Amino acid sequence: MAPILTIEDLRERHRRFTPTMFYDYADSGSYTEGTYRENETAFAAIKLRQRVARNIDRRALSSTILGEPTALPVYLAPVGMVGMQHPDGELHAARAAEKFGVPFTLSTMSIASIEDVAAATDKPFYFQLYVMRDRGFVEELIGRARAAGCSALVLTLDLQILGQRHKDLRNGLSAPPKMTPQVVADLMRHPRWCLAMLGTKRRTFGNIVGHVKGIDDMSSLTEWTHRQFDPTLDWSSVDWIKSKWDGKLILKGIGDVEDARIAVETGADAITVSNHGGRQLDGAPASIHMLPEIAEAVGDRIEVHMDGGIRSGQDVMKALALGAHATSIGRAYVHGVGAMGEAGVTRALEIIARELDITMALAGETDVANVGTHNVWGGVPRAAPIVEEPRERELVAVGA
Ligand code: GLV
Repeated sequence: MAPILTIEDLRERHRRFTPTMFYDYADSGSYTEGTYRENETAFAAIKLRQRVARNIDRRALSSTILGEPTALPVYLAPVGMVGMQHPDGELHAARAAEKFGVPFTLSTMSIASIEDVAAATDKPFYFQLYVMRDRGFVEELIGRARAAGCSALVLTLDLQILGQRHKDLRNGLSAPPKMTPQVVADLMRHPRWCLAMLGTKRRTFGNIVGHVKGIDDMSSLTEWTHRQFDPTLDWSSVDWIKSKWDGKLILKGIGDVEDARIAVETGADAITVSNHGGRQLDGAPASIHMLPEIAEAVGDRIEVHMDGGIRSGQDVMKALALGAHATSIGRAYVHGVGAMGEAGVTRALEIIARELDITMALAGETDVANVGTHNVWGGVPRAAPIVEEPRERELVAVGA
């Protein structure tokens, strides 16, 4: 078998193992997928300065995230339905992250539940929270995360309403899959996955089904999101969440310098510069283009994390250089899970760590803590100018 040297190698194995419906869920963006693609191409356009004749014998990749030690300035981002990419995918990913020494984040929309992951691991993990209309259920989720010993809450702010992913609608995405002729044909093309799935009972949304009254069928994810996610979520909701959670709080989905400034005022511990992997506002700039201005505006008042488009150690180096304290990876690890379960996630982390080490050394640096804008060739990419926002007028709820 050919060696696995890149995240792309894992992606190709993931694509072959997993039914199209679930593979496409991971490997897609909203609408034209322009922002999704841009996240990666923007990284490729940034160049690093090559510095030589420095002693690069001793090097350090370890860092801290939210004050806790980490083997790499990288953690696993929240991703929905990892347990459909590979049976018990979230458990595999959480174990791999724990052994590697980086944080794992469990999504609200996971297949394994908070309690399942807590039982499968020894160290605390992060829990990502979506705010639903049913605030009682949100409080319950926060309580479950606390009871499971989660060390941080990652509050996602950029998905009150779903950016349409055409592939998911065309594929009829659901968990468990609805047995239409198209789905049956898809499953038949992936017999190894089907067989492996028979070995687990986790085939639907473990944090939700059985916990919300009246929800026993989440067959259409899009429809469910539309009905349950709270479009009224605003900064006062963030204060409300903060009043319910006394641990560390990461605000994820910040893509604008004004929002970053407000986020700092909430007293959160970190923000994640993110466009949700190009899955929400299609037409938004690449995350790496949003990062420098935001990092500069907030300074060291809050930790700045970023995600979107990271597929290599070189990408991590560029994100650190442009102001990220830490980065999170979504697809890069999901391709690992989909390819080979826990071993695939370990492989993804090894690939990224090794390349970060070599890239850093060839750029003349020996410690991730010292990487900065001086490592970027040709200066920092420019962010869009700030334009005045239009005044508000009275709006009505659409499709309510
Ligand atoms: C959920 O976070 C999604 O992007 O589908």
